[in-house]
Amino acid sequence: MHWKFLLTIFVLVYIPAVYCQEPVIVDAILPEVKKIGESGFLNCTVARKGTNIVTWTHVTNQQPLSRDETITLSINKNIDGQPKFEIKKRSSSDGDRITYMLIIRGLREDDAGDYSCTIEIQGKKSQEWPSTIGKLTVQVPPKVLTSLTTTRIESKIGETQVLRCEATGIPRPNITWVRADGDALPNMKFTHRGSVLKLDNIRRTDQGVYRCVADNTVRPPDQYDVQLLVFSRPLVRSVQNTVGQAANGKYSAKLECKISAYPDAVLRWYKKTSQGKMLINDDDKYDIQKLQSSDLNLGETWYYLKVKNIQANDFGDYYCEGSNSQGTESTRIILFETFECQGPNCPSTFNSRGSRLNAILAIIFFFSYCLTFL
Ligand SMILES: *[C@@H]1O[C@H](CO)[C@@H](O)[C@H](O)[C@H]1NC(C)=O
Ligand SMILES: *[C@@H]1O[C@H](CO)[C@@H](O)[C@H](O)[C@H]1NC(C)=O
Repeated sequence: MHWKFLLTIFVLVYIPAVYCQEPVIVDAILPEVKKIGESGFLNCTVARKGTNIVTWTHVTNQQPLSRDETITLSINKNIDGQPKFEIKKRSSSDGDRITYMLIIRGLREDDAGDYSCTIEIQGKKSQEWPSTIGKLTVQVPPKVLTSLTTTRIESKIGETQVLRCEATGIPRPNITWVRADGDALPNMKFTHRGSVLKLDNIRRTDQGVYRCVADNTVRPPDQYDVQLLVFSRPLVRSVQNTVGQAANGKYSAKLECKISAYPDAVLRWYKKTSQGKMLINDDDKYDIQKLQSSDLNLGETWYYLKVKNIQANDFGDYYCEGSNSQGTESTRIILFETFECQGPNCPSTFNSRGSRLNAILAIIFFFSYCLTFL
C-alpha cells in the first residue's frame, strides 16, 4: 500500500516539476510576408532557456544559420552596411522569456521558405528537442515573359489566332486580356482571364492592340501590348461627311478622312467633275497632309485635304480613297457653299472694327499732341 502512495506523490510532484523546468518555445512563430529587397523578421520566444542553445535553420535550404546570438554561416553578406543575417536577443522584464529575432535583410526569392527555431537541450536526443517552424514568403511583382508572349500576329480574315502571355511573380500572377483602346474584345466582353486569348473567325475590325495585364497584388503590375494586324481592304471613313465654306473670301476648307488598313494603304483624293473623277495633287490650290494623333488605332491613318481660296467651282463631291494589295475603298465628302466664313481661321468682325477704332484714336491723339506745341 505504501509504495502506491509514494508513486502518486512522484507522479503529481516530481514529473511536473521536471517537465516545467524543461525549456519550451512559447507561442507560434508568426508567418512573415515581405517584398523582394525588404527585410524579414521571425521571432522565436523561449521560456526557461537556462544554458541550452537556441538555433535557427533555413529548413528549405537545409542551412543552419545561428546558435544563440551568433550567426554560424561562413559567409554573411553585407546589405547596405548591415549583415544579411542577424540575431537580436530581447528578454522579458522578469527575464524568464527570451526572444531570438532572426533578421534577414535584402530578401531574395531563395530566402523564402520554412525557418525552424530549435532549443538544443543538453543530454537529450535531437528528436526530443522542442522545435517550431516560421514561414517566410518573399513577394515578387509580376513580370511579363516577353520570350513566351506573342508580340505581333498577321492574320487573314476568317482565320483563328491564339495570343499567348506568360508572366512570373510570387504569388503567381493572374493574367487578364483587354483591348488597349478600351473597346470590347471580339467576344463582346471587356476582359478575358487566362494566359491564352483565342480569337475565332477574325474580322477586319478585330485589328488592334491587345493588352496582357499580369497582376498578383504586389505593386506594380506589368503589362504587354500585342499587335493583331488583319490583311484587309482599307476601311475609309470621313471625319465629317459635309463641310461648308463661303466663296470668294480667300477662305479655305479642310476635308478629313481616316483610313485603316493592313498593309498600309496609299491615299488619293479625287474631285468629281463633269468628266468624271479628277485626281487631286498637292499644289498651290490643294494641301494634302497626314495628321499626327495619339488616339488613332493600330494601322489607322488620319489625312486632310485643304482646299485653298474657295471659289464657286470648288463646291461639290470629293473622294478620299485608300488602296492596298487587298483592294480599294473610298468615301465621299461634300463641300457646300455657306453664306458666311466657317471655321477657326475666319477674320473676326469685332477685331477689324476694334483696329479701325484704334487707328482713329491714334490720329486724334497725334493731332491733340501737335496742338500742344502751337
Ligand atoms: C518580430 O518582432 C519585431 C519586434 O517586436 C516586430 O517588429 C516584427 O514584426 C515581429 N515579426 C513577426 C513576424 O511577428
Ligand atoms: C487571381 O484572381 C482570383 C479571382 O479573382 C483571386 O482570388 C486571386 O487572389 C488572384 N490571385 C492573385 C495572385 O492576385
